[in-house]
Amino acid sequence: MTCKIITIDGPSGVGKGTVASMVAEELGFNYLDSGSLYRSLALKLYEKNNNFDEVIDDLDYWISDISIDFQYKKGFKSRIFVNNEDFTEKIRTEKVAELASRIAKDRRARDMLEVYQRKYLIEPGLVADGRDMGTKVFFKADMKFYLTASVEKRAERRLNQLKDQGISANLPNLIQKLLLRDKADTERLISPLIPAKDAITIDTSNIDALEVFNITMNKIRENLKNI
Ligand code: DC
Repeated sequence: MTCKIITIDGPSGVGKGTVASMVAEELGFNYLDSGSLYRSLALKLYEKNNNFDEVIDDLDYWISDISIDFQYKKGFKSRIFVNNEDFTEKIRTEKVAELASRIAKDRRARDMLEVYQRKYLIEPGLVADGRDMGTKVFFKADMKFYLTASVEKRAERRLNQLKDQGISANLPNLIQKLLLRDKADTERLISPLIPAKDAITIDTSNIDALEVFNITMNKIRENLKNI
């Protein structure tokens, strides 16, 4: 049996995590939220030393004793552990997203996390979401999707997610932060955020997660046999 790979990339707040986990659930595939690995690594490093410039200068030293475990079980919310401590909730802040975007520019951090990402490829298949799943880490994926949405819509979604977690935020500020993160993610030299040439692009600005899921599943069923 060959392992099928589906990648779903896109910028922050586009809804790729929701759709990717729904697709994984529907197909009975493993699921990887690669952004949570970047967030967890960044937060652990920050907890060790909040002088982030110093950490990045000597990254090999600071990451040497960090181990991350992203766990997904069908029917359950995925959880992420760093050195056995549950980081699932605490990585979901804007501060951690900014730190993750900084660490994501570094080749040493990307190489470390790429090793983890490959471990999620287990039969019968994997749905992986992130920035470079289809262009780099799983460039041979069977199907690739790229989700986009206007920055205003993405900020609105982020605002609602933060509200649900009891975290207060304001829309103009979130828009500014998303624009800065988009810039950092698209302009970085290593694995920048761009659609893979063979990716199917879906604009999610005016459709909800269920519709995006239905469009994605229809494309998968049209293109992949025996799934
Ligand atoms: O998807 P997210 O917001 O959880 O990602 C947080 C940061 O991690 C994002 O700004 C860029 C980085 N990232 C990355 O560089 N490559 C990935 N495959 C996933 C995330």
